[in-house]
Amino acid sequence: MVVSASSHASEIGAALLKNGGNAVDAAVAVGFALAVLFPEAGNLGGGGFMLIRMKGGESVFIDFREKAPEHSWRDMYVDSGGKVTLDATRGVLSAGVPGTVGGLLYALKKYGRLKASDVLDPAVMAAKNGFIVDERLGRRLREYREELAKYPSTKKIFFKDDNPLAPGDTLFQDDLAETLARIREYGEDDFYAGKTSRLMIEQMKRDGGLITERDLKLYRPVERPPVRGTYRGHEIISAPPPSSGGICLIEMLNMLERYDIGKMGYHSAGSVHVISEAMKRVFADRSEYLGDPDFVKIPVDSLISKEYALRLAAGIDTAISIPSIRLKPGLETPEDPNTTHYSVVDPEGNCVAVTYTINDYFGSQVIVDGAGFFLNNEMDDFSSKPGTGNSYGLIGGYANSIHPYKRPLSSMTPTIVLKDGKPLMVLGARGGSRIITAVAQAIINVIDYRFQIKEAVAEPRFHHQWMPDELRFEKQAFNPDVLLRLSSMGHRCGETVSPLGALEAIYLEDGLIHGAPDYREGGTAAGY
Ligand code: DON
Repeated sequence: MVVSASSHASEIGAALLKNGGNAVDAAVAVGFALAVLFPEAGNLGGGGFMLIRMKGGESVFIDFREKAPEHSWRDMYVDSGGKVTLDATRGVLSAGVPGTVGGLLYALKKYGRLKASDVLDPAVMAAKNGFIVDERLGRRLREYREELAKYPSTKKIFFKDDNPLAPGDTLFQDDLAETLARIREYGEDDFYAGKTSRLMIEQMKRDGGLITERDLKLYRPVERPPVRGTYRGHEIISAPPPSSGGICLIEMLNMLERYDIGKMGYHSAGSVHVISEAMKRVFADRSEYLGDPDFVKIPVDSLISKEYALRLAAGIDTAISIPSIRLKPGLETPEDPNTTHYSVVDPEGNCVAVTYTINDYFGSQVIVDGAGFFLNNEMDDFSSKPGTGNSYGLIGGYANSIHPYKRPLSSMTPTIVLKDGKPLMVLGARGGSRIITAVAQAIINVIDYRFQIKEAVAEPRFHHQWMPDELRFEKQAFNPDVLLRLSSMGHRCGETVSPLGALEAIYLEDGLIHGAPDYREGGTAAGY
């Protein structure tokens, strides 16, 4: 079973599983396929995380997050007036050193069983043969038309006669096909020390970017132990730093375990209140303690301990909302201080959850000329200025400040839930800060409210991230009585226009594998 944001990419993955590939082979093929078929978020020029649980029980986490270039510096996006500049989010200066190609090929070699050509051929074909632009891509190109048109290399591919491609047009990506074919032939050497790297460097030189030949040569993915927790008898395996996802998820679930939210009722004022109070507290901690573990010491064990959750939960008042301004990061003694997700399960029971990203839709908006892929704008995930929010409104400080070769803190949360030692859910989401709360709600919906997986993914969600002090909710998430009660408890509630993240989940039960794509993203499940 493969669940991704693109039906064609899901089918590519399922076909590979059918032809003897394992879940990792399929995940790598889907990663390359999405770079072609879902160019606004799938990528070669970004980075991400792959969480694998092999059928024997071994779990690994491959970190292929982008890194800050050697010549980056802490205040590089702060102008003389103290404002964060647009360079943090647009153009080549916003790009970190990409990790996707290194990470996918590392996973293939170590945990897959097929050859590079098996997993890359479908992506090469899709790029060369072209595909019909769908409503989703057409709409996003239209929304971003003015910004994208500023970059000639981008315009060349996504525009026809000064207009962005529209639904029904065919998108051909010849340069990308050649890049993928070179990767098929020469592996990561092409991307980090070959023709593709040269094309990236030329783009940097032309546009005043920071990434150097040396940055690319030195890039390596890293394998890390996942973080682990438990929730009402289930095991949770999730993303460790440099993602905040796993820690925030486990810390939040630990707090919620203190309450019978099932009995309080689904989306009742009482349960929503307690869940959002827990959300606030984890985002407060995120802002202070979390960053790249190779640069800052993170008190992981304390943050995900049941004792700490007990103390935090004791501070939750079940009748009133504590204003965020009064909530500080909670550890008493800290030990020093557009994205897409897909899930794959193969017939043997190997499970893979991948979230990878170029950050915003179309990343930095710059296509590497001649190479045909977007560069990320992941540098905006750093805290450019203490106390000033990034494009997701997330704030941070020293732990997530810019430093050469450091990885920006992420919210991506590829997660596997086990019951009785066996996989029950494989899931993750896109949506910046909303990823963490979307994944948590999908888990709660299944475990506490006993929803079928499809409902658990589809039901309207809510989100609180401490700052801004706002409880956001999707249309129809709460009935008017609940809203009134939440407001009277002191919550500032606001309906969102855009969806709160998009999940792609798989649920395993009694030998059956259920795919649950999120209608918010138009994702699809493919299996056999
Ligand atoms: O790593 C992160 O947390 C962000 N760059 C993720 C961005 C994202 O999910 C965009 N999709 N809406």
